[in-house]
Amino acid sequence: MILQAGTPETSLLRVLFLGLSTLAAFSRAQMELHVPPGLNKLEAVEGEEVVLPAWYTMAREESWSHPREVPILIWFLEQEGKEPNQVLSYINGVMTNKPGTALVHSISSRNVSLRLGALQEGDSGTYRCSVNVQNDEGKSIGHSIKSIELKVLVPPAPPSCSLQGVPYVGTNVTLNCKSPRSKPTAQYQWERLAPSSQVFFGPALDAVRGSLKLTNLSIAMSGVYVCKAQNRVGFAKCNVTLDVMTGQ
Ligand SMILES: *[C@@H]1O[C@H](CO)[C@@H](O)[C@H](O)[C@H]1NC(C)=O
Ligand SMILES: *[C@@H]1O[C@H](CO)[C@@H](O)[C@H](O)[C@H]1NC(C)=O
Ligand SMILES: *[C@@H]1O[C@H](CO)[C@@H](O)[C@H](O)[C@H]1NC(C)=O
Ligand SMILES: *[C@@H]1O[C@H](CO)[C@@H](O)[C@H](O)[C@H]1NC(C)=O
Repeated sequence: MILQAGTPETSLLRVLFLGLSTLAAFSRAQMELHVPPGLNKLEAVEGEEVVLPAWYTMAREESWSHPREVPILIWFLEQEGKEPNQVLSYINGVMTNKPGTALVHSISSRNVSLRLGALQEGDSGTYRCSVNVQNDEGKSIGHSIKSIELKVLVPPAPPSCSLQGVPYVGTNVTLNCKSPRSKPTAQYQWERLAPSSQVFFGPALDAVRGSLKLTNLSIAMSGVYVCKAQNRVGFAKCNVTLDVMTGQ
């Protein structure tokens, strides 16, 4: 792939490169970028919002006679097998952001926490926050990058229930249940509702595939069977009615 001058990718790389190369000449201790300990790996639920927390502090401020501080901020997303993708930037006083993203605080607060709204599974990845602080002469007085890994989890989408086989007395049938989407992968449970309620376990139940094998059917096994697809961020249900017939 050929990167054309002026694409977001090349300008991003240029800014990062300039940031890094100017850094070398200056004391690293001038500024420090912080991510709260333990929050460099976040999980959030699809459809909700998440805040990626980050802020910077300046050291030895008293040694600067009223330095006007000009931050260059870039939040970008790295995903496996993809080019880094700029999410939000503040460069030369101009804020550029993708829809649904915003800074939580004003940039002058030095808190550069990023809010991501209406999360989708595809928003998962490593978010890197790059801050390059310059003084009013355009000299870098500190640069740092911190990363936060975000994993967007998906509650199981409504599963579909189906009956496989023809339910005559004495035969076998399999009830199937499948949720089209969930992260992490859903586990399945089957139960028969009242009046003769029953919860099923292995080997009849395959909690990974969502199947329930009913053998040697009897009239008493007729009823409404409910499947629950579940992961740690939610669940969804479907049901199928079993009518066991006599004769063949
Ligand atoms: C920066 O903002 C985030 C999100 O509002 C917050 O959790 C964090 O405590 C703030 N940091 C500081 C140093 O105030
Ligand atoms: C029904 O299932 C039982 C137990 O798994 C098996 O022994 C039997 O052969 C099956 N019957 C039919 C008709 O498939
Ligand atoms: C199937 O069920 C009937 C009555 O419910 C029973 O008599 C029979 O032994 C069962 N067959 C098997 C193979 O379990
Ligand atoms: C079975 O599923 C249907 C829709 O799929 C729903 O309207 C109904 O309430 C469910 N019944 C039970 C007993 O869960």
